[in-house]
Amino acid sequence: MDADLVIVGAGLFGLTVAQQAVEKHGAKVEIIDVRDHIGGNAYSYMDEETGAEIHKYGAHLFHTSNPRVWEYVNRFTEFTNYVHRVYTTHNGEVFPLPINLGTINQFFHAHYTPAEAKALIAEQAGELAGTDPANLNDKGISLIGRPLYEAFIKNYTAKQWQTDPSELPAGIIKRLPVRFNYDNRYFRDTWEGLPKDGYTAWMERMIDDPRIHVTLNTDFFDESQPLNKKALVGKVPVVYTGPVDRYFDYELGDLKWRTVDFKEVRYDEGDHFGCPVMNFADSDVPYTRAIEFKNFNPERKDSQNPDKTVVWEEYSRFATREDEPYYPVNTAEDKALYEQYAAKAAQEPKVVFGGRLGTYKYYDMHNVIDTALTAYEEQVAPLLG
Ligand code: FDA
Repeated sequence: MDADLVIVGAGLFGLTVAQQAVEKHGAKVEIIDVRDHIGGNAYSYMDEETGAEIHKYGAHLFHTSNPRVWEYVNRFTEFTNYVHRVYTTHNGEVFPLPINLGTINQFFHAHYTPAEAKALIAEQAGELAGTDPANLNDKGISLIGRPLYEAFIKNYTAKQWQTDPSELPAGIIKRLPVRFNYDNRYFRDTWEGLPKDGYTAWMERMIDDPRIHVTLNTDFFDESQPLNKKALVGKVPVVYTGPVDRYFDYELGDLKWRTVDFKEVRYDEGDHFGCPVMNFADSDVPYTRAIEFKNFNPERKDSQNPDKTVVWEEYSRFATREDEPYYPVNTAEDKALYEQYAAKAAQEPKVVFGGRLGTYKYYDMHNVIDTALTAYEEQVAPLLG
């Protein structure tokens, strides 16, 4: 192995650093990943039966207001003009999300103006005025009032956390967005869209250079293969994007994550929901939401099967070490534990920790790319000499 840099993890963090190291330094880069594909959690594949692009690790929508990131990603892919919108089923009716004037008027069978709706929600949220919300349930009521909270947030949150919101800390939610107009665009970023030829083609182009070599199905902690922690750390610069607690063999304890199980359902019809994402706000449906992948790419209609569709139902739960870690639980205890791991990480010779697993943070793709560009400049480039 004659690489100048080893990157553990072929997700967007690792791929961005690899691309930069080659472009800016002419470095030879070795990327390893334990999975059998590149792309990390943004990886997708085509479903032959329906022509849908399936996002294997959950729905991925690209959005950013960061010009540096937008310019960077556009070097490798064009984006469709997809605009993300989400709907929710509650009590036998479908409502638009995030909660907006359309949701409010449909829910209260009313025709409130923005000012009237604002006054109503303020009055309903006043139920717990002057009290310090003791749990997530009270926090929700104090933010948007009991009727909307109980209809759209309470049971969905209970399913996400497998815990009654009255037993969850209030701090999990800072705010619950309510829009007093009919705008139900989910993201408020300057740019959004989906990669025209799919996520995997985008990411393959990022590392399309003979100086980058990728080794898949390789665990950094498996000492029976040559590219492992013991053999490499201290000898060659390493960028590590796996779980930070795993790197240190969980010696200070496990950082907590939530994961998602996906259940695939196929329908003999062209379109089942009429939208890409349908949330289920009530407790009688056990899953939180369903993704109908075909509907992310209406521009591919001609190559999609008009009579079949595929839907993934999402079931949320706490992760064990064997599960895919998706969302950091991030209690005060977890944050304190992460700080201890981060202090140890800073002592590792020539190792840069990055990405969502390496820094125990929920990052959207644009955040990961931005932090990777910065990490390359500030931490990786100096190691390359
Ligand atoms: P990522 O997890 O992608 O890559 C890390 C890689 O390291 C993995 O490929 C893993 O196999 C590898 N690895 C770990 N341990 C290893 C070991 N021991 N040896 C070798 N390899 C190892 N963002 C967004 O902008 N819009 C969206 O809609 C969504 N949606 C979304 C849904 C869900 C369910 C999740 C969980 C996340 C999102 N995201 C998102 C976030 C997005 O997935 C995230 O920002 C990036 O994938 C993070 O890229 P990283 O490179 O940091 O990690």
